[in-house]
Amino acid sequence: VKIAVLVSGRGSNLQAIIDSIEKGYIKNAAVNVVISNKADAYALERAKNHGISAVFLDSRGRDRAEYDREILKVLRQYDTDLLLLAGYFRLLGSEIINAYRNRILNIHPSLLPAFKGLHAQKQAFEYGVKVAGCTVHFVDEGLDSGPIIIQRCVPVLPGDTEETLTDRILEQEHIIYPEAVRLFVEGKLKVEGRNVTAPD
Ligand code: GRF
Repeated sequence: VKIAVLVSGRGSNLQAIIDSIEKGYIKNAAVNVVISNKADAYALERAKNHGISAVFLDSRGRDRAEYDREILKVLRQYDTDLLLLAGYFRLLGSEIINAYRNRILNIHPSLLPAFKGLHAQKQAFEYGVKVAGCTVHFVDEGLDSGPIIIQRCVPVLPGDTEETLTDRILEQEHIIYPEAVRLFVEGKLKVEGRNVTAPD
């Protein structure tokens, strides 16, 4: 399974996926390209450190449909089977979503459908929930709204700050994202009763 990853920043989830493949936890898969809309995304360095193509596509001042077509071009160039969003801070347009329906995954730092959008951990912290967490889901046209694959919860503890809660959630992100990718690669995921089959 050929994987492409879209990023905007630090790339710790990207790293978790790369490590899981290198350790053999995810078999029969490779990250072939990492695409960033930010030139200085550390995720691009992580890709290079592992001999993975790192592509910067500048999104500034670009119309979404036009920008997405550029992404699509790169995805096709690398013969992509599975697209992962890992801290990609833009919405995808319908062209990519249609081209890769049920083959795009995202990780979100809340127990969806609560706290969609940016700064989910802060939203949860300020709301005062006692349980927070993270979600891996398929991407559809909505914001953080596609079918859920895996969720993991963590407690909000007395004395927590937004930062300590964010760290506790991130630790679980690094566990469930590789898990979800592995399930996809092994052809074990279903959407509306139908197998989402991963190509060989
Ligand atoms: C993570 O918290 C992820 O859930 C959210 O953005 C953050 C990205 O972190 N979508 P990283 O770039 O993977 O380190």
